[in-house]
Amino acid sequence: MTEYIYNKKIIYNVDILHYKNIDSTNRVAGVLPSATHLMTVVSDSQTTGRGRMNRQFFSYEGGLYMSVILDSKKIKCGLGLCTSAAALAVKDTLEKNGVRNLQIKWVNDILLNRKKVCGILTEAKTVNGEINRVIVGIGINLNKPQNNFPEEIKEKAEYIGFKGDKLTLAAEIAGNLGKYIELNKSEISSRYADNMAFVGERMTVTDYSKNNTKLTGKIVGIDNDCFLSLQLDNGQIITLSSGEII
Ligand code: BTN
Repeated sequence: MTEYIYNKKIIYNVDILHYKNIDSTNRVAGVLPSATHLMTVVSDSQTTGRGRMNRQFFSYEGGLYMSVILDSKKIKCGLGLCTSAAALAVKDTLEKNGVRNLQIKWVNDILLNRKKVCGILTEAKTVNGEINRVIVGIGINLNKPQNNFPEEIKEKAEYIGFKGDKLTLAAEIAGNLGKYIELNKSEISSRYADNMAFVGERMTVTDYSKNNTKLTGKIVGIDNDCFLSLQLDNGQIITLSSGEII
């Protein structure tokens, strides 16, 4: 599929490819023939925005949908921490743009006043069995959707209210992501821990690595790999490598 590029720009040294409407910026970023590190695909809306666990990501006009291409050789924090690095990059950038009360919901969401304003989906591309490109997809609810959020997410979704230039914001996020992935694992995990929502609270978590088992307990924090520590009601502390706080 060849899509029409609406705009091509370099902002803060980041190559931005801007589309009006495509299926998924992650898909397009994954097949671009001449991609370079930090090149960023942006679309004003997506027809089939992808979320975690094969869910659809609601991608209305008025949001920012972007995918940053990372050269895997430049990733110092480890491939497993790219999503965490991206969460920090988004939070920092939004705060610099005046948004307050943001927190990171383990592992890939940003919350504003405890409601979701951003989701992140990281996908790896391999050539001859080796990962050469990592695609970090970021969707941010910038402004209110014309017909509100769909029923199924309306209680949990929020928008930040953004009046600035969307492409500049995308370039700032990509630039910050480029800096975060050059940090080491412990620098990422300690900053991530400082910005996490629900620490000390009793929550239910879906464990993706154990057949989506649901576990309830107190969120303790994360370890050096950004794995979640959960204290069960019997006092035992368990570690989840992949899952979701619900
Ligand atoms: C999630 O909340 O489960 C992750 C959502 C990630 C959505 C972004 S929008 C830009 C990029 N393109 C996609 O198809 N998905 C990501």
